Amino acid sequence: MTKVWAKTDWRAKPRVQMPDYPDKAALAAVEAQLARQPPLVFAGEARKLKQKLALAGEGKAFLLQGGDCAESFAEFSADNIRDTFRVMLQMAVVLTYAAKVPVIKVGRMAGQFAKPRSAPNEVVGGVELPSYKGDIINGFDFTAEARVPDPRRMLQAYTQSAATLNLLRAFSSGGFADIHRVHAWTLGFAEHDKAERYRETANRISDALDFMNAAGIDSETAPSLATVDFYTSHEALLLEYEEALCRVDSITGQPVAGSGHMIWIGDRTRQPDGAHVEFARGVLNPIGLKCGPSTTVEDLKVLMAKLNPQNEAGRLTLIARFGAGKVGDHLPRLIRTVQEEGANVVWSCDPMHGNTIKAASGYKTRPFESVLREVREFFQIHKAEGTIPGGVHFEMTGKDVTECTGGLRAVKDEDLSDRYHTACDPRLNASQALELAFLVSEELQSMRAAGRRIAL
Ligand code: PEP
Ligand code: CO
Repeated sequence: MTKVWAKTDWRAKPRVQMPDYPDKAALAAVEAQLARQPPLVFAGEARKLKQKLALAGEGKAFLLQGGDCAESFAEFSADNIRDTFRVMLQMAVVLTYAAKVPVIKVGRMAGQFAKPRSAPNEVVGGVELPSYKGDIINGFDFTAEARVPDPRRMLQAYTQSAATLNLLRAFSSGGFADIHRVHAWTLGFAEHDKAERYRETANRISDALDFMNAAGIDSETAPSLATVDFYTSHEALLLEYEEALCRVDSITGQPVAGSGHMIWIGDRTRQPDGAHVEFARGVLNPIGLKCGPSTTVEDLKVLMAKLNPQNEAGRLTLIARFGAGKVGDHLPRLIRTVQEEGANVVWSCDPMHGNTIKAASGYKTRPFESVLREVREFFQIHKAEGTIPGGVHFEMTGKDVTECTGGLRAVKDEDLSDRYHTACDPRLNASQALELAFLVSEELQSMRAAGRRIAL
């Protein structure tokens, strides 16, 4: 008889990228305390998101996933949450208009705290210390004390996630998300003298809303115009935290990750026999799997079989992150593997993580043109393969930061030091994120024009 999955099984598997807590007693106390807390999300919500993602796999919906690279304790504020939420809604309206299908909104929010790092240590001015692993694990300050993994940080991350979700739920249904308001903000963006290319689409959306109003379809008669469904997601890296928040769905009896609606496995932690895959395979939530240049066809087959043995639609989202100029070297073989296996997946494009460079000033940045180029290559290859581009995945914020270069307001290398606030990777600012949504919508429109299944 096969053994049933248990939320602790990952502990017997090889683990990478996870902290080694020096204070085991403190860790056990935190785990016990977290296990008594209410889950942040409910199984029914995760199941609903999975149903929506199933539609994205068929081209009948489109996934927009975005938010911070790493949430932080220092940057936590109602304004930051509101602003990121607002830009995501603006992007969603633009994408909905282009794709003519619902846009599924998933924040990298309310739990996106733990970071995999390319090197375990960091050297600054001849001093070597353990790398910063995200606020849920250790501190950003470059001191030996801050860099010691502290399990109590999990409690603060949990509390901050609960407060973030509470606000997101209020914004989603309390009037803030009304499509007319959201679009009015976009019209402000389209007034910029360099935004001419986007003005026509923005005006067409206004016309569509005016027409609906005239026909009696407004936020009063159609409350769905004033509310949105918004979901949360994060990389399930810190498995002690995930295990402590794992619950059992009272309806299906299946385990569910209570830490967020969707969780993903990162490019560095997707070893088919590793701890992260072991944990993710047992929970009912939608699962994301980052696919990078080192993802082999063999691994992808094993991972799809492990993570989605029933081939359930909406369960698995493959998040491609190869880097501009490299998509064509890798994506076709993975698409063909999916096709040969007859696997149900959602293909999403993360044009951020393969495009990080070091600017002359020393700042880590991402050129807007590289991000856009990777998105275009992703669409182009799906077009050529006859498959469906189901979504996009961005690191972005609603604030006017200067972390990625380019965009219509032309952030330059020398501007990066002005407002470089990220705790980890560089994010698109509000203007760059919205501009990218307009450019993605051009891709979606060209798919439609080519008569593809997306948005039929
Ligand atoms: C991330 O999404 O922040 C991340 C670290 O991505 P990847 O695992 O694809 O490098
Ligand atoms: Co990142």
